Amino acid sequence: MPTKATKRNARVKPGQREEETLRVLISHQRIRERVRHMAQEIRRDFPNEPVHLVGVLKGSVLFLADLARELGGEVSFDFISVSSYGKGMDSTGEVKMNKDLDVSIEGRSVLVVEDILDTGLTLKYLLRLFEERKPKHLRVAVLLDKVERRIADVKADYTGFVIPNEFVVGYGLDYDERYRNLPDVCVVRLGPRGKTKIEA
Ligand code: IMP
Repeated sequence: MPTKATKRNARVKPGQREEETLRVLISHQRIRERVRHMAQEIRRDFPNEPVHLVGVLKGSVLFLADLARELGGEVSFDFISVSSYGKGMDSTGEVKMNKDLDVSIEGRSVLVVEDILDTGLTLKYLLRLFEERKPKHLRVAVLLDKVERRIADVKADYTGFVIPNEFVVGYGLDYDERYRNLPDVCVVRLGPRGKTKIEA
């Protein structure tokens, strides 16, 4: 017989702390459909060309994996790691390179794959860096766009969802390295201890 405590725990997401509230903003089903359509748009623009995906670690990993499978045709991947966020929800405003690409992008059709566009400072830094390396094409796909928060003058070529100014986790996005494995994108809020709830 499940006790009250086990029933309550069954609704707690993996990694969830007592003081955190999660609310599903975009379900995995909606994400899958949108990613499929984005892949179709991208393939329409690059019908017979190899597409070189550049994932921005670590948040883009799940999005890149799904997008790559939906794209079909010739696809290769590489990854870069930069940080603009410290621990928690606050941006430091600075972008720092942690790991560069493994291979040259010169002459290639490059698609930068980002989890989320927030201030846009990370993307601005990356586009400047990559443009100097002379790719044949340089495009950007982002899953989520917090348009309201933009500081840098950058835009994605392919956008999954425009979202409000809320801190989100799941489908690759983290809060202190937790929640990346959630299938849905959820809003996380800090509440009083012991008041944990999950709203579907
Ligand atoms: P930007 O440079 O401000 O556009 O920030 C981009 C990076 O900040 C993203 O690649 C994420 O790693 C992180 N970020 C921004 N907003 C969120 C959020 O709501 N949840 C988790 N990470 C975020």
